[in-house]
Amino acid sequence: MLLLTSLLAVAVAAANVNAQSATPIYVDPLVPTGTPLVGNYTGPLRPQIHFSPPVNFMNDPNGMFVDAEGVYHLYYQYNPLEAVAGNQHWGHATSRDLYHWVNQPIALFPGNTSEGIFSGSSVVDVNNTSGLFPDQDNGVVAIYTLNTPNDQSQNLAISYDSGYTFEKYEDNPVLTIGSTQFRDPKVIWYAPTQRWVMVIAYSQEFAVGIFTSENLLNWTEASNFSYHGLLGLQWECPNMVEMPMENSTETMWVMLISINPGAPLGGSITQYAPGSFNGTHFTPVDSVARIADFGKDNYAGQFFYGIPGDQPQISIAWASNWQYTQAVPSGPLEGWRSAMSLPRINYLTNATRVGYRLVSLPYDLSPVISSEPLQSNDNLGNGTVLVDFTDLESKVIYFELNITNIPAVNASGTANFTFLSSITGESLSGGQYLFGDTPFWLDRGQLRGFDSDPFFTDKFSTNVLYDPETSAFTMSGVLDRSLFEVFLQGGEQSATITLYPEQPLDIMVLRTAGLNEGVGVSAAVWGLDSAWADYTDENGTVVGNVTTGAGSSNGSSQRMKRETVLGRSKRLY
Ligand code: FRU
Repeated sequence: MLLLTSLLAVAVAAANVNAQSATPIYVDPLVPTGTPLVGNYTGPLRPQIHFSPPVNFMNDPNGMFVDAEGVYHLYYQYNPLEAVAGNQHWGHATSRDLYHWVNQPIALFPGNTSEGIFSGSSVVDVNNTSGLFPDQDNGVVAIYTLNTPNDQSQNLAISYDSGYTFEKYEDNPVLTIGSTQFRDPKVIWYAPTQRWVMVIAYSQEFAVGIFTSENLLNWTEASNFSYHGLLGLQWECPNMVEMPMENSTETMWVMLISINPGAPLGGSITQYAPGSFNGTHFTPVDSVARIADFGKDNYAGQFFYGIPGDQPQISIAWASNWQYTQAVPSGPLEGWRSAMSLPRINYLTNATRVGYRLVSLPYDLSPVISSEPLQSNDNLGNGTVLVDFTDLESKVIYFELNITNIPAVNASGTANFTFLSSITGESLSGGQYLFGDTPFWLDRGQLRGFDSDPFFTDKFSTNVLYDPETSAFTMSGVLDRSLFEVFLQGGEQSATITLYPEQPLDIMVLRTAGLNEGVGVSAAVWGLDSAWADYTDENGTVVGNVTTGAGSSNGSSQRMKRETVLGRSKRLY
């Protein structure tokens, strides 16, 4: 049997060599080339509107760009053979609306068993600055870290078919300093100097290197941004992006830095710094440490390449934490581990008292909302909304709660929610106390599917200021089986957490109590459609790309807005 398996492996390896290109390349015989991995997306933990890999282990989003046809490309750190980290490839999926994803064949493969294709980014070389695309304006260049036991070097892979298949650049590496801690290049085009700009982590020196290039092939060191805010034990996955400022015609720049290990909450976290960029140097507005998400499962976020800087940016993060990601039960139970966060729109605001804040809101959810709310109440006052969604196949819920007319002094009361399993009584809950600087809490400690891991800490909180101008407070959230994301005060604060109930959560209670007289409360709860169900065959299997670019809706930009789905807080900016 063993002999037969090895003979088969040799035969498949030979076929892979032939199928790839004239240049022989090594591909692990067990990893399919030219065809997507197949997955089953029906398991009770499987997110239905979030991206997760067909099988096995995923971490960071990589190489995200939107092409000229409006197709969003998401690549990701992928171990196609096991549900634990390692054996890094770049998996690939595409979408037109950021919710309906089509699994594509693996895009990048390590060249031998000691290599890993680590994180990086992609750009479209529209003007053929590299000279690699004489006859086209949609050539894609992926810039990634090649990890070997002795070195982390920066390498290119080239795609002539808009990001579906890649060849490794023949003169790799394009940037190496002989370090094992130099990784995760994120490249953008900076029009004023007509240069490409790369930010990259000197991970254990707590520095982001800024390099520039005219052609993506030769890189010049420009400056370092270092020792800012939190250090943790390593810096990873830096991003630098231009984005609009709310209530202003100005844009600003944001430096996003992922930290792992050593986050204040444990494990992985993301910090950001608003500032300015002049083509070579990033200058932060101040020295404040700002955290992007107050939950524990939002890491290595990346902004899509190709969104103009005067429009809200679009980001996706890895919704997990290195402290426990390789132990979570979706591996043994369903054969996959890790999902991405919701796609988010991002811009900066000048928030009450605290100043610059990165606003983070779900990207337009309408492609997965096809029906009226399961429940809504425009005049809830102090009351309860009870939603039994045991019959909702997707088990995905979106809710909004908007409170207006909150008195400036002596505000009182609470607004909270609980998701329950009708079978086990397990629960996920959270809520807001409307007094003082309004503490908000989240509790995933009443769930039983993954409760013995000491790092899977279960309670989170933050403080939100309600808006003195509008005297209003808003809270919205998405529950998607094993993921929950909450957005407070129009996205001024957000949290992403994973959760592992033993049985599906299928009842929601949304409740307000003790609110002052005259306070207005509106609430609505929707059941969302499963995005994966559209691609599932009768056996519950998602086969992946048979045709490219499936999905509905267009990929155009989002307005910078805090218009809620309910459309009640009509604060357009
Ligand atoms: C972040 C990270 C990156 C690295 C990749 C390897 O989660 O550690 O720094 O490139 O994961 O999978």
